[in-house]
Amino acid sequence: MRQHKQVSVLNRRPTVLYLVFAAALFSFLLFYIQSSFFAGSVSSDRDSEMIRVLSNFQSSVQQCVDNRGLGLTAHIIDHCKLILKYPEGTNSTWYNAQFKKFEPLEYSYDVCEAILLWEQYRNMTTVLTREYLDSRPGGWVDYAPQRIAQLGTKKCTNKTLCEENLNVLLPAKPPFHPRQFRTCAVVGNSGDLLKTEFGKEIDSHDAVFRDNEAPVNEKYAKYVGLKRDFRLVVRGAARNMVPILNGSDNEVLIIKSLTHREINAVIKTIPNPVYLFQGIVLRRGAKGTGMKSIELALSMCDIVDIYGFTVDPGYTEWTRYFSKPRKGHNPLQGRAYYQLLECLGVIRIHSPMRSKRREDWSDIPSREMITQAHAAALRLKKNQGQSDDLGQFGNCNVWGNVDPDNSGPVSGSPDMSDVRKYSNYNKWEVMPFESLRREAQDHYNQMQGVSLYKMDGNRLDDLVCVRHSLKSEA
Ligand SMILES: *[C@@H]1O[C@H](CO)[C@@H](O)[C@H](O)[C@H]1NC(C)=O
Ligand SMILES: *[C@@H]1O[C@H](CO)[C@@H](O)[C@H](O)[C@H]1NC(C)=O
Ligand SMILES: *[C@@H]1O[C@H](CO)[C@@H](O)[C@H](O)[C@H]1NC(C)=O
Ligand SMILES: *[C@@H]1O[C@H](CO)[C@@H](O)[C@H](O)[C@H]1NC(C)=O
Repeated sequence: MRQHKQVSVLNRRPTVLYLVFAAALFSFLLFYIQSSFFAGSVSSDRDSEMIRVLSNFQSSVQQCVDNRGLGLTAHIIDHCKLILKYPEGTNSTWYNAQFKKFEPLEYSYDVCEAILLWEQYRNMTTVLTREYLDSRPGGWVDYAPQRIAQLGTKKCTNKTLCEENLNVLLPAKPPFHPRQFRTCAVVGNSGDLLKTEFGKEIDSHDAVFRDNEAPVNEKYAKYVGLKRDFRLVVRGAARNMVPILNGSDNEVLIIKSLTHREINAVIKTIPNPVYLFQGIVLRRGAKGTGMKSIELALSMCDIVDIYGFTVDPGYTEWTRYFSKPRKGHNPLQGRAYYQLLECLGVIRIHSPMRSKRREDWSDIPSREMITQAHAAALRLKKNQGQSDDLGQFGNCNVWGNVDPDNSGPVSGSPDMSDVRKYSNYNKWEVMPFESLRREAQDHYNQMQGVSLYKMDGNRLDDLVCVRHSLKSEA
């Protein structure tokens, strides 16, 4: 018994040691498991927080579509995906000959992608500039020729040749700035404009954007107003600008796709500032002028009100307020997308069937909510891509620097006609920084004097970013 006891005493020492060791190992393991568990749960907690923010946002978007969509309803699939549906029995009269079918009554969207894209436009430069061509790899050799029709060469190894074509519409740096205007009206050409009298309301905006050949005169003043600041034109329409711009010397012309000799010849006979749009999809399937006008407006305005876009139910034929009905494209698809944009806080829609609810925007998600949803969508996207650069320059793939002492010439060419030489075409280009709206100055400072340009089209990534010296401006 005693012996037994002794043995057990003898045995106890190693057992204690063993236990102490095991306990240490165990608590170490426990600590290890716990800490890795916590690390994992911190990031998945954060993801689920982002998903929660986006899900709340989706509910607001859904509510907004239900309230404002004139019959459209939103169906949430997950925190990003959403389907907009037209009511059963909606007349789909638009026949797509290419795909041999009528327009569908359902459209699915990725709200996360949409909000990333459209919030980005608020910070973009949407006019082609010399600094962009200088910064973009192959800007002059490969890209400049893509913006000039009938150049006769695919590459511009002789830069002088491309300059001759572009000089007259190529400013050294961005002539317009994000947040330059508070309110802007984008006026489409829909025949719907004649059913209302939005003229005074349109004219009350800080800037008005119009499309192509849209006439502005006493005859239509009641319906479309008289104020004229910007006009986005496709190449075909640019030819007819002389009579349309008569008497409107300061109206800025922005050519949507390409320029060529014929347009250059027209430009020399008018005093108006003329630029080329930057951010165009230079392939088939480019979106209509209406969508590009919204992008253009959003790159300089806080609030974008749209008028004269065919966005009411009961569409039968494509009409313009100043000409006979003709064939158009995809009214249901367009209407659904514009409604989504309104509920993402990008635009505010004005139309005959909405004219009674003027100035009530309470069911559109607030700016604060949109900013939060944007941040959440960005974080989720970057997490998936294993990249954590969430800053405002996260998409800058190409950088350019501008020498402040050499800011370059304003648009023009050595052989300028008298009408342009004495015109106001450089009004915006020589505008002093101090005369910019406060919000535009603040934005410029927050961006550290960097201008952002898209490489092409609707891609979110691949921005060209050009740094200006803050000192030279402020
Ligand atoms: C649908 O459109 C056709 C052709 O325009 C028209 O005859 C028909 O009445 C429309 N139906 C409804 C329900 O609006
Ligand atoms: C746009 O610019 C503001 C600064 O004015 C910045 O806070 C914001 O992150 C930028 N947004 C995007 C999408 O680049
Ligand atoms: C470049 O183009 C300009 C204008 O067309 C022409 O005058 C010049 O001779 C060209 N230079 C070369 C080296 O081909
Ligand atoms: C421009 O308008 C004025 C009067 O408004 C007219 O006399 C003139 O002929 C017009 N010019 C052109 C080129 O249409």
